[in-house]
Amino acid sequence: MKATISKIAVLTSGGDAPGMNAAIRSVVRSSIFYKHKIIGVYEGYKGLITGGEYFKELSSRDVSGIINKGGTILRSARSEEFKTKEGMDMAHKNLIDNDIDALIVIGGDGSFTGAHVFGNKYDFPVLGIPATIDNDLVGSDYTLGYDTATNTAVEAIDRIKDTASSHNRLFFIEVMGRDKGFIALRSAISIGAEAILVPERPFSIEKLEQVLEYGAANKKTSSIVIVAEGACSAVEVAAQLNERNNNAFDTKVTILGHLQRGGSPTCFDRILACRLGVLAVEGLMKGEKDVMVGLINRKARFTPLMTAINGEREVDEELLRVDSILSI
Ligand code: F6P
Repeated sequence: MKATISKIAVLTSGGDAPGMNAAIRSVVRSSIFYKHKIIGVYEGYKGLITGGEYFKELSSRDVSGIINKGGTILRSARSEEFKTKEGMDMAHKNLIDNDIDALIVIGGDGSFTGAHVFGNKYDFPVLGIPATIDNDLVGSDYTLGYDTATNTAVEAIDRIKDTASSHNRLFFIEVMGRDKGFIALRSAISIGAEAILVPERPFSIEKLEQVLEYGAANKKTSSIVIVAEGACSAVEVAAQLNERNNNAFDTKVTILGHLQRGGSPTCFDRILACRLGVLAVEGLMKGEKDVMVGLINRKARFTPLMTAINGEREVDEELLRVDSILSI
């Protein structure tokens, strides 16, 4: 490991998230501001292993006009090869051959696991910027993309609610969140859902049935159940309920899926990306490594990558309580 940093590489990895481009722009421009060269690595760890044309020096102008764009101009990938010794050796060789002193990984838990193993194996400085719509990392109140994805989900569900109430229908709407129910909880409160199923809470079909029957008895013209994909399948739970009720409800299922991952980042995600990019470059200059940069109560925090990944991120009990009061 070199004492000072003069050339930094940046990549995006795992599921894309709105705000990744804004973070790339911030990393590129703050690196140039501090007189470092900055290399964009295309297609995440796959590009790191492949090298060659997957490495490209970026200028301030190369990142013009991307702050408002969804997806990632560096593209992304989930790489199995990076989990192997041969893959990691190749990635390390490419970094050394290109005189790169440090690596910034913009991604989520899977990407940070790879970054942690790699950084320790080769004593190579790596720093993570949290970007996942799931918001499931410890060390930042918000991860990039979460605010945008939730707003996208809310807008879509509002539209579904219009048609649901016109037909007295029960909709099960599945939102993303592989292990956590953050998108589900915020969406449910924002659209006034009748029920919410999240991985953090045991789920009972009897309880769900009671809630929906209570709503119908209290003249609700529609019911919306938000299902986090990590809790159960919306299709299966709708089928279970219909079976128990002999199809008493006019039931429909919508899976929002990847539409939640695309689109222009919100103002919140853009500002978060701008701040985290600057802090990431400054963190590397101060010798931070094997950490994720985040904001807690709007203050910069550097959290060890392993804590960011493995720490328990609790569901917001207060929001669950508010939801249960207001959904009657
Ligand atoms: O981690 C972000 C996420 O969008 C999850 O919510 C979802 O389970 C997963 O990625 C989907 O991944 P893929 O796009 O590879 O199917």
